Amino acid sequence: MLEAKNIHKIYSRTNKDVEVLKGLELRIDKGVFAAVVGPSGAGKSTLLHILGGLDSPTTGAVYFKGKDIYSLKDSALCELRNKSIGFVFQFYHLLQEFTVIENVLMPAMVGARGSFGSNEKKSALELLDMVGLDKRGEHFPSELSGGEQQRVALVRALINNPEILFCDEPTGNLDSQSGKEVISLIRSLNKDKGMTVVLVTHNLELVGSTDRLCRLEDGKLG
Ligand SMILES: Nc1ncnc2c1ncn2[C@@H]1O[C@H](COP(=O)(O)OP(=O)(O)OP(=O)(O)O)[C@@H](O)[C@H]1O
Ligand SMILES: [Mg+2]
Repeated sequence: MLEAKNIHKIYSRTNKDVEVLKGLELRIDKGVFAAVVGPSGAGKSTLLHILGGLDSPTTGAVYFKGKDIYSLKDSALCELRNKSIGFVFQFYHLLQEFTVIENVLMPAMVGARGSFGSNEKKSALELLDMVGLDKRGEHFPSELSGGEQQRVALVRALINNPEILFCDEPTGNLDSQSGKEVISLIRSLNKDKGMTVVLVTHNLELVGSTDRLCRLEDGKLG
């Protein structure tokens, strides 16, 4: 499903280059629930952005269902990200000037080029209900707590029913009960719908239930 080959990532600064990933290799089969753990600054977010088609590696390649995603044209990569990939950012990245429901529907709107029907609205409300936020659709992100915004970001990532879901610290701002609920929601998407999940966290407690645990250390996965 997903394969990363010899990934290097160097952030260039005027005087100092930071080499974050150093020849990383990864293979994730369809339907797997994988977790990547590692200390702060290890490069977990960097790796997830590269795997999710959001930031190209300095060298190396990422294959999604056999296709080298960074060799695709921009429009094809955008379409792949919109239709097949769900991404929950560490810091949510909700659009502040739009309401919760508008944020959630944004990927559906982009995918349908502005014209989508009541089905999407219905599934948006169902998903919001699943994370306990069905009453908050008309609110703006600034009116929600950090954990609530994180759940909205998860719902937004799910609206187009992606084949693979990337989650960057999806419970980082949740209390332990809400964290468990979000993880069990993600796990059930994996089990019931066969959604492939790659999750990044430094909370080891969360990763007990995953199929696969990788440790990011010194720019490589162990
Ligand atoms: N745009 C950038 N320019 C320069 N350095 C960067 C940039 N983005 C990240 N880095 C550096 O790359 C390293 C890895 O960052 P990254 O955000 O991937 O770590 P992380 O494992 O996700 O950390 P955390 O657990 O704190 O979220 C850090 O040392 C960071 O300072
Ligand atoms: Mg991070």
